[in-house]
Amino acid sequence: MEQIHEHQVIVITGAAQGIGLTIARYLSERGAMVAIADINEEAAIKAVNDLPNKNRLAIHCDVTSQESTLNMAKAVVEKFGRIDVLINNAGYFPVKLFSDMSVAEWNKVIDINLNGTFLVSKAVYPVMVKQRRGKIINMASVSGRVGGVGFTHYSASKAAVIGLTKALAKEAGSIGITVNAIAPGVIETETTKHVFPGFALKEYTKSVPLGRLGTEADLQGIVSFMCSSGSDYMTGQVLTVDGGYTMI
Ligand SMILES: NC(=O)c1ccc[n+]([C@@H]2O[C@H](COP(=O)([O-])OP(=O)(O)OC[C@H]3O[C@@H](n4cnc5c(N)ncnc54)[C@H](O)[C@@H]3O)[C@@H](O)[C@H]2O)c1
Repeated sequence: MEQIHEHQVIVITGAAQGIGLTIARYLSERGAMVAIADINEEAAIKAVNDLPNKNRLAIHCDVTSQESTLNMAKAVVEKFGRIDVLINNAGYFPVKLFSDMSVAEWNKVIDINLNGTFLVSKAVYPVMVKQRRGKIINMASVSGRVGGVGFTHYSASKAAVIGLTKALAKEAGSIGITVNAIAPGVIETETTKHVFPGFALKEYTKSVPLGRLGTEADLQGIVSFMCSSGSDYMTGQVLTVDGGYTMI
């Protein structure tokens, strides 16, 4: 397999399972030195042990804690000496109608999805500034562009991640750091199977021009491109991968 990510140090948050893990495997197979940073340390260790490139790291990281994110960035630099790419993938998406939503439920989603993206980026940014290069890739969602029923908290958090992406891209460009986001539609993961009832997924699929839900594999090539030098002149962009569900 072509080692297109050889020598790249790539940190992926929330990659102990789901989309993050599939991306981690794909990048590792192509030579990347991958660090999986997840709140579920046991699952992160198991996930990392399966990565083909033995130059790899599992780290406990709670993206909502500044101390934890700073420790994570330090551990990655101690092991690999630098961070080339940060993928802010950790996320949380419980469905709850607005009228039933508690303040605590709202805050938890904002804390993991938005504050987590802020804190991890904040911890890794000085490393990239020192290098005068780096790529930050934020996992947004089509919910952040068009909204979703039961998703006021989630849609707000992902719309804010898109805003953060664009603003930071403007600040960081002159230092050689790019910041982009990816906005997937519904992707079939273990979590989505639990979160959405089957009939809702069937209904949603009717609005997808490509006629099916996304798979984790549908995201790996585009993230690989976003990690590679092929995307060096791209910043502040949101790449939508949703089978045509939104065309904006
Ligand atoms: N699955 C979809 O349909 C879909 C669609 C659009 C966007 N996304 C986004 O993609 C990302 C991954 O989604 P997924 O379906 O793979 O989710 P998932 O539930 O399978 O995985 C989420 C991971 O995040 C970790 N995590 C949760 N809270 C954390 C915290 N505080 N600190 C560190 N790690 C934490 C979990 O342990 C888990 O490993 C999320 O940001 C999600 O919002 C998913």
